[in-house]
Amino acid sequence: MSPPTLVTHDTPEALAGAVADALLARLAELQAGGVEPHVGLTGGSIADALHQALAERSGASPVDWSRVHVWWGDERFLPSDSPDRNARQARDAFLDQVPVDPAKVHEVAGSDRAADVDEAAAAYSTTLGEHGSGRFDVLLLGIGPDGHVASLFPGHPGLEVTGRVATGVRESPKPPPERVTLTFEALARATSVWFIAAGADKGPAVAAALEVDTATREQVREIPARGVQGLDETVWHVDADLATHLRRPGT
Ligand code: 6PG
Repeated sequence: MSPPTLVTHDTPEALAGAVADALLARLAELQAGGVEPHVGLTGGSIADALHQALAERSGASPVDWSRVHVWWGDERFLPSDSPDRNARQARDAFLDQVPVDPAKVHEVAGSDRAADVDEAAAAYSTTLGEHGSGRFDVLLLGIGPDGHVASLFPGHPGLEVTGRVATGVRESPKPPPERVTLTFEALARATSVWFIAAGADKGPAVAAALEVDTATREQVREIPARGVQGLDETVWHVDADLATHLRRPGT
């Protein structure tokens, strides 16, 4: 595992455009090598900007979307058609505009299709197991000001889950309260982890998360993003506003 790299972009829009370009290039490169890539998407506001940038660029890209598996690092446990669902937002912004194979877009079950978050997490785990080794070629992740990643929140039980690739979340500090998230074990199966983050409020959390090689279990409990790195690469895409606030821990 190589140490994280930091890429600073002038604005959130520039960040979204650069990551969209990089993602389309990586997917095309993988497909040219005979790989049917698995990409993990995330929710949140910078993800919305990324989705818009992908929609603007996909038409000119050689990516064969019918040969891309799409997953989510986490999902809100809401009705499937809720506009607050990460998958709904991605579909509305770009996925419904590219020729994906519906069988390869793997949504977490909504509250209209699963009895509770545990059932939804178990179903998602089964689906992950049915499609390859549960690995991701590129896993996109956001980070909260508290250092949460996906829906793994500081001090929450989900941080301790082992032996499973997805788990239910209750009493999320970020609404809505019920979610499903990949576990650290699943996040650890990504060849490339690309964090996308914008805004000064995330500076301290990102600064801490960049210290991933030295993170103790207790520090990961405090800043869950410190527990995530790609097998081959971990890239932090941040905007200039955040970069100026990258106060290193202890400074
Ligand atoms: C979610 C996201 C969550 C998000 C971060 C950052 O379902 O809310 O998956 O993990 O990525 O909270 O969100 P912002 O980019 O909006 O700050």
